[in-house]
Amino acid sequence: MKLIRSIQALRREISRLRKNGKTIGFVPTMGALHEGHLSLIRRARRDTDQVVVSIFVNPTQFNQKKDLLGYPRRLRSDSVLCQKAGTAILFVPDARSIYPENFQTHVAVEQLGRRWEGQFRPGHFQGVATVVTKLFNLVEPTIAYFGQKDAQQARIIQQLAEDLNFDIRVKVLPTIREKSGLAMSSRNKRLSEKQKTGALVLVNALREAGRLVQLNEVRSSVILARVNRLIRSAGQVRSEYSAIVDPATLEPVSRVRTTALVLLAAWVGSVRLIDCGFIHTKRKN
Ligand code: PAJ
Repeated sequence: MKLIRSIQALRREISRLRKNGKTIGFVPTMGALHEGHLSLIRRARRDTDQVVVSIFVNPTQFNQKKDLLGYPRRLRSDSVLCQKAGTAILFVPDARSIYPENFQTHVAVEQLGRRWEGQFRPGHFQGVATVVTKLFNLVEPTIAYFGQKDAQQARIIQQLAEDLNFDIRVKVLPTIREKSGLAMSSRNKRLSEKQKTGALVLVNALREAGRLVQLNEVRSSVILARVNRLIRSAGQVRSEYSAIVDPATLEPVSRVRTTALVLLAAWVGSVRLIDCGFIHTKRKN
């Protein structure tokens, strides 16, 4: 595995790979890697010739300085994990090379970026879309991998790739969870054991929503009332939003038809967690 820090060196490596006709799988991350990230890397390894992973704690997508400064950074253990998972190139640029002094161009995916996370984290998706656009231009991947865990982000990236004519396939892979059901997240490291137990209410709420549609309750208002009541009952968890949306447009649906996506965001102490899951109506025979 090559650890590359400069844009120039990355470009050299990428053009060498492309000249040799290699397909490139790309997994952008912010580090503090866990099984969720590794599942993307392993899948990329299976699908493509050479895997590029980036680790860049992107300052423009953080709303709070404290969150940015407190974001876990553990390059040494991350690079061991990347190597074991079959990474060929680990790209770790610094903020100055991604955002030089005179940087002034931003990418905004307008409609998809407005609601949910976009509403509670102003500027967040513009930061994500801008950095991913830059990384796509640098890495020129054949396939790029994203997690369903960040459902809105994944949809935004798909839209961005289409709108800006990137010749890149965007693959979205399932959420990896702890044995307990808690969705893996670098932020979980900031939860106490007690808070982790409390946070399980999110996955329980998703399961409850799934159970209700299976029982033929398809009214979003009824399902959400149940979900919210469950979350409130957990005490230490404060819901920020819960929604049942169309998986493609991310607009709320009043009834579940075939498949819908449940989006949850909540605070557990000072840690903000998101989770989501598909719910399916019973198939008619
Ligand atoms: P980060 O939070 O490090 O996540 C990197 C990728 O891993 C994202 O595609 C995310 O959806 C995926 N991921 C995180 N937790 C997961 C889980 N439990 N199961 C499956 N996949 C999971 O998302 C970002 O970084 C940044 O916004 C980034 C895209 C790198 C742009 O800065």
